[in-house]
Amino acid sequence: MKLYSRITGTGSYLPPRRLSNADLAAELATQGIETSDDWIVERTGIRARHFAAPEVCSSDLGIEAARRALQAAGVRAQDIDLIIVATSTPDMVFPSTACILQDKLGANGCPAFDVQAVCSGFIYALSIADAMIKTGAASKALVIGAEVFSRILNFKDRTTCVLFGDGAGAVVLEASDTPGILASDLHADGKHVGILCVPGHVSGGQVSGKPLLQMDGQAVFKLAVGVLDEAARATLAKAGKTAADIDWLIPHQANLRIMQSSARKLKLSMDKVIVTVDQHGNTSAASIPLALDSAVRSGKVKPGELLLLEGVGGGFTWGAVLLNL
Ligand code: UT7
Repeated sequence: MKLYSRITGTGSYLPPRRLSNADLAAELATQGIETSDDWIVERTGIRARHFAAPEVCSSDLGIEAARRALQAAGVRAQDIDLIIVATSTPDMVFPSTACILQDKLGANGCPAFDVQAVCSGFIYALSIADAMIKTGAASKALVIGAEVFSRILNFKDRTTCVLFGDGAGAVVLEASDTPGILASDLHADGKHVGILCVPGHVSGGQVSGKPLLQMDGQAVFKLAVGVLDEAARATLAKAGKTAADIDWLIPHQANLRIMQSSARKLKLSMDKVIVTVDQHGNTSAASIPLALDSAVRSGKVKPGELLLLEGVGGGFTWGAVLLNL
């Protein structure tokens, strides 16, 4: 049995409709909501986001990213033996988005399930796939983060609706004789449910509660900065590495200021941080694989390099994965 898991291909997909900050500000202005490119760039680093067409679901975005990752890995869909989709914006209440995507892909038969850990979802999903490969339960996994966050945004709330976008990213993770994933560290603390949530559910054929995202931005910011640093250090320690060994930090793409703070705490130059939040805003579970794929395809991140992936989000959930590409 092979002892390790390794990423052998990456892929990502953004829906075609792109709104710059100015485009979004102009749309919001028609509803009497005031914002500006200057405010959004200064507070978040975001310059644009992509919104999916109304009939497009997370599985539609996820499948495009998955196909690209399979092509990059040189793996056929029918050879995949595990599919995990990280999403907080599933196609249906049930079945899982992973099952819907599996059928579209033609990989029917293998285990397929969703992971719901909001913006930490991809980190959770990657850790689970790694554990399943290391126990021999799977050998070729598709791990996908896919979101249509535009569906749960309150466009009357300027403090949140300018921050998020839609998209998907994916990796193929295969059993390997050489180490890829070196260590991971996952956490959750449910006492912070209220600072970032969509407090609605389906009941008696109706939506009960408010099915729109609400966030205490400053509380999230403060908590995120602390827990990301703890997760980064714990993950490095498990692998016997230090921050100085990292070639690239690939953080959850929510806010450039959080990423700058993470880098500062680890004494890393921003030159070692992959930043794509400017191009797609916060795409929740999709943001880390989107950033990873962009860095791989641009040639910035190279095979063999040491990457630290870190995520944080609603729950509160957080975690990190250290890997050799
Ligand atoms: O993926 C999960 C992780 N989520 C996050 O990482 C989000 C974490 N939090 C943040 O990124 C930041 O807290 C925000 C970007 C959400 C907000 O930045 P901030 O620097 O904490 O701004 P603030 O909430 O303190 O608001 C400052 C001012 C306020 O006006 P007053 O009260 O000072 O007059 C807001 O009303 O900015 C105002 N404001 C806006 N102005 C123009 C808030 N949103 C906007 C807006 N456009 N879109």
